[in-house]
Amino acid sequence: MHAAVLHAFGPAENLSYETVPDPEPGPGQVRIAVKAAGVHLVETAMRTGLASDTLPPRPTLPAIFGSEVAGRVDAVGPEVDPAWLGQDVVTSGGRSGGYAELTVADVTSLHRVPGGLSPEAAVTMVVTGATTMCFLDVAALTSSDVVLVTSAAGGIGRLVVQHARRLGATVVGAAGGPAKVAAVRDLGADLAVDYDVPSWQEEVAARLGGRKVTALLDGVGGDKARAAFELLADGGRYVTIGNASQGGFAPDPGELEERGQSATSALLALLSAPQERPGYEVRALAAAAEGTLVPQVQAFPLARAADAHAALESRRTTGKVVLIP
Ligand SMILES: NC(=O)c1ccc[n+]([C@@H]2O[C@H](COP(=O)([O-])OP(=O)(O)OC[C@H]3O[C@@H](n4cnc5c(N)ncnc54)[C@H](OP(=O)(O)O)[C@@H]3O)[C@@H](O)[C@H]2O)c1
Repeated sequence: MHAAVLHAFGPAENLSYETVPDPEPGPGQVRIAVKAAGVHLVETAMRTGLASDTLPPRPTLPAIFGSEVAGRVDAVGPEVDPAWLGQDVVTSGGRSGGYAELTVADVTSLHRVPGGLSPEAAVTMVVTGATTMCFLDVAALTSSDVVLVTSAAGGIGRLVVQHARRLGATVVGAAGGPAKVAAVRDLGADLAVDYDVPSWQEEVAARLGGRKVTALLDGVGGDKARAAFELLADGGRYVTIGNASQGGFAPDPGELEERGQSATSALLALLSAPQERPGYEVRALAAAAEGTLVPQVQAFPLARAADAHAALESRRTTGKVVLIP
């Protein structure tokens, strides 16, 4: 089979498209002929060899990244019901090996792809969508909220914007550059702003006409989060899902208390309750199947995995990045 293989930590071009042996499913596993594989921002950091408390352990090389795939079961291992053969499935349970034409996953991690959902949509929802479900549970948005979403054109961001709009909340989507701002506007955000423009906070404040942000949902961290936080009302909630900028941002606890604000990590909530994950996955897939959340993907051929990494880490993607073998 073909796969995108990393032999040495470093830049995106180190991902090399090559022929490798087919994987064989072990006990309790199936083999999946991959139709779509998800790419994560965190995998771009892992590719460089970066080691930190917030990253998964540095992989052993050579490595094939990719833990979430959608495709068709083409072989089953020992102790697996052969009825799985030929089923269209999606999983977040591949430990790695998803950037490939074939991969293996534990049978207990599989979901059947709901009718009508494309492999690209299914693979978007099984992790990015599931993460969004946790993010939204923690944020507990209501129709009276004024919600500010960072990286609003991203994989998670655009799902948050859609959810908040459906609730009837007032939605401000912030993203980098005119194309992303247009995408956020198309999603129905009440206000779409380019936060690469230095005066963006003034624009938001002026256009909200005296109303203040009551919920800030952030996956970017760093200076962008710090600037967005300045727009948060007394009593407002800051909810974070990640730190895409690698810049780090933590509101001052004293200021939080003084202003009656809260700061919560949905990422911590997600990581500390792995038993909740299957439920989030089911809800996310169902939301896409019934059309209440519409995932958007930016697809690259598997042979161009290096381009996908380069685009993601340089903020040139909208929606979820997937690889198509
Ligand atoms: N997807 C998941 O399942 C998942 C799970 C756990 C945590 N997270 C975290 O949630 C956040 C959003 O994830 P996502 O998958 O939806 O990603 P994404 O928003 O599709 O992509 C990342 C976006 O972050 C913004 N960004 C700002 N500074 C950046 C930088 N220095 N490098 C790269 N991107 C930068 C860019 O949007 P702008 O150009 O608009 O600024 C970029 O497009 C990330 O922090 C991620 O680590 C995601």
